[in-house]
Amino acid sequence: MMRIRDILHLTQQQTDVVAQGWVQTARTAKNVTFIELTDGSTLRPLQVVVGENCTGSADTPGTGAAIRVRGDLVPSPAAGQAFELVAAELEVVGPVGDDYPLQKKRHSFEFLRTIAHLRPRARTFGAVFRVRHALSMAIHRFFDERGFIQVHTPIITGSDCEGAGQMFRVTTLPASMPPMADGEVDFSKDFFGKPASLTVSGQLEGEIFALAFSNIYTFGPTFRAENSHTARHASEFWMVEPEMAFCDLAGDRRVAEEFIRDIVGAVLTRCGDDIDFFDEWVEKGLRRRLEALVSSSFETMTYTEAVAALENAKKSFEFPVKWGLDLQSEHERWITEELVKRPVFLIDYPRDIKAFYMRVNDDGRTVAAMDLLVPHVGEIIGGSQREERLPVLDEQLERFHLKKEDYWWYRDLRRFGGVPHAGFGLGFERALMYVTGMQNIRDVIPFPRTPGSADF
Ligand code: 4AD
Ligand code: MG
Repeated sequence: MMRIRDILHLTQQQTDVVAQGWVQTARTAKNVTFIELTDGSTLRPLQVVVGENCTGSADTPGTGAAIRVRGDLVPSPAAGQAFELVAAELEVVGPVGDDYPLQKKRHSFEFLRTIAHLRPRARTFGAVFRVRHALSMAIHRFFDERGFIQVHTPIITGSDCEGAGQMFRVTTLPASMPPMADGEVDFSKDFFGKPASLTVSGQLEGEIFALAFSNIYTFGPTFRAENSHTARHASEFWMVEPEMAFCDLAGDRRVAEEFIRDIVGAVLTRCGDDIDFFDEWVEKGLRRRLEALVSSSFETMTYTEAVAALENAKKSFEFPVKWGLDLQSEHERWITEELVKRPVFLIDYPRDIKAFYMRVNDDGRTVAAMDLLVPHVGEIIGGSQREERLPVLDEQLERFHLKKEDYWWYRDLRRFGGVPHAGFGLGFERALMYVTGMQNIRDVIPFPRTPGSADF
């Protein structure tokens, strides 16, 4: 059985072709019905012509019905398509009620979120999730071709990688009246005998494997219980985290830049129709923006330079700008969209606003961190060189009020063949927003989880 994508790729007419899928539109004129049929394999629907001689179903199948059609593929007189399928036999495999919600051609993305069980059949979401797949495959291919080993890091964890404490607890203790000891919940009675959570990042475990396999990556779901109500934050999202031994921040940056250019190029090649669709309906100029990215080089700026530029900017920001404060998304967007006008690495952030594991620079005030900011999305990658010097790491743990005992194995890695190493994390959905032009992270995740919302 051919998928519609393959049928549309045929270059000559062919008899006895079978197609099956869902009716996108059905329009009857005189005694002929024209059906646009889709099976998700491609953006373009197959035009099916149902005339009086067609056997099978007596009624015109409604929008949303699942049908199987047998007929001849012949040159089409209509514009925009080379061939059409003239149906000899039509079978309704799955009829549709007339309250099918996707009757109209266009619906708001907000409305479509409320029908996540049918949303994948809408054209925009067909394109989104085909691109999601293609991007995922491109990521695995990129690392595989370069000899990186994929590591499946745990989803349930006993450590808090980012040290930020915004984690979802995993417990089997009863919500009401849990066992108590000294006025606190007694987690020694919990399933794992200690507190456990959903991971916020696979990085720390990734470092273990980098110090054995040299170059590794993780690509899995991560969870953050931060109460961020923005279009770019989800409580459950996927992160790609490469980690390289014998690598410093400059090497880290080179991998990140090559990586982004490569995977965007792969999507342009593989999903041309979908990208053109986004270009027309979602973000005008998208294709040009992506093509420019593939052939441009990224800028690098220090945090200190960025703050100076922001302070001199002829623009009033909602949040204050001052050396030592974290940059807000409005600042990041201004830097990449107005100032640099292309992707830019911000490096060397103040020590106290970044994670404990980042390598302290010689100035003692900054760390070897890098954030990649891109137009349209803002921060898409966060990474760093890791602190490999045990005394400095211990100083960092103390500074961040983290217990040495909790990081005993992380410290061990610095004593047993530790080497300079570095890595980064790409927010997979942020990358998808970047390549599709979609404005809301909820619209690039099949079943989004955000504060107050975990439907479906
Ligand atoms: O900058 P982050 O927090 O870095 C880390 O987690 C490091 N452990 C990565 C590493 O060095 N291995 O997160 C990395 C990226 C961000 O740049 C952003 O793209 C994405 O993950 N991200 C989110 N995406 C969607 N929703 C959220 N709530 C996100 N938080 C971070
Ligand atoms: Mg970050």
